[in-house]
Amino acid sequence: MSMMNAALVESYDEPPHLRSIPAPDAAPGQEVVDVLAVGVHPATRGIAAGKHYTSPRTLPALAGADAVVRRADGSLGYVMVMGAGTLAERIVVDPAAAIPVPAGAAPALLAATMNPAMSSWCALRTRVPFQAGQSVLVHGATGNAGSMAVKVAKHLGAGRVIAAGRNRTRLDELPAEGADDIVQLTPDQDATAASLAEAAAEVDVVLDYIWGPATELAMRAVLGARTQHTRLLDWVQIGGVGGDSITLSGHALRSNAFRILGSGFGSVDMQSMQRELTELVAAIAAGGMAVHPRPFPLDQVEAAWAHQDAPGERTVILL
Ligand SMILES: NC(=O)c1ccc[n+]([C@@H]2O[C@H](COP(=O)([O-])OP(=O)(O)OC[C@H]3O[C@@H](n4cnc5c(N)ncnc54)[C@H](OP(=O)(O)O)[C@@H]3O)[C@@H](O)[C@H]2O)c1
Repeated sequence: MSMMNAALVESYDEPPHLRSIPAPDAAPGQEVVDVLAVGVHPATRGIAAGKHYTSPRTLPALAGADAVVRRADGSLGYVMVMGAGTLAERIVVDPAAAIPVPAGAAPALLAATMNPAMSSWCALRTRVPFQAGQSVLVHGATGNAGSMAVKVAKHLGAGRVIAAGRNRTRLDELPAEGADDIVQLTPDQDATAASLAEAAAEVDVVLDYIWGPATELAMRAVLGARTQHTRLLDWVQIGGVGGDSITLSGHALRSNAFRILGSGFGSVDMQSMQRELTELVAAIAAGGMAVHPRPFPLDQVEAAWAHQDAPGERTVILL
């Protein structure tokens, strides 16, 4: 039996461990691919910690949620197999689900960038009736996904993008990356609400990476300041770095043309996802949208899990 190296989740309370496991065989209709690069995203960590809605129910399980791979014909592909695992020298994929990657694209950069970038790309392209010229508030714009959302919204034609976040240093860099206005989220709730009301009262779409109490405050501020109450406001829940739930008054939903929806794995059908990710891979490969990869070899998977990314960087395991 041929063996290979892999990173296995053996306990939700520990990082994945390097193990030697049997190499996979492809069933009819499947393909064995070589894994080149795997991003360690918040979702990748959450899945391995048993805290994500796609976490494996039984252990041990392969770690990793997505990967840049080399296919049997030598071409590159990007695959997303949330919950099934990608952190092994070889994995089995459905060939129809492999997103084509242009020759010459850098696997580590794509592995670092695809997950944060797809959050806003799929939201704007598939979840809301976003049109060029509309204005977008990115709530939680200083992380990798939030700052990519600023670039993606502009790339897709947003007329005005407002970036709101905690980290002042990172926030100050965002106008150079496309933000038309910035709002700092501070512990002073009145000041934060006033700044959001002034900058974002008339936005069309909110891409929300924070949720929790910060979102309750932001919703009150934006809805309370709106002058055109029947102008549609789509508030898209994408991330939960500030909490997993909110309390929402019925008044908020009745007093404005206000819709709340989510965007993520499970809320976008696979056909749309395939189409959009193919376009996104091409846009990233063309340059201008990148998260900086922080590489680790597979045999340092535990160190990779312990590493805390600096703003703008993403841990990537290279195989
Ligand atoms: N649904 C999807 O398709 C999708 C795809 C990708 C990511 N996501 C989700 O989006 C979120 C962000 O992912 P990421 O890749 O950007 O992670 P990241 O690069 O680690 O960034 C997280 C950011 O969150 C900020 N933050 C943490 N707590 C906060 C709070 N209470 N208020 C304001 N900001 C806070 C931190 O900013 P400071 O510098 O201020 O600490 C940090 O910059 C995660 O929940 C992730 O799971 C969803």
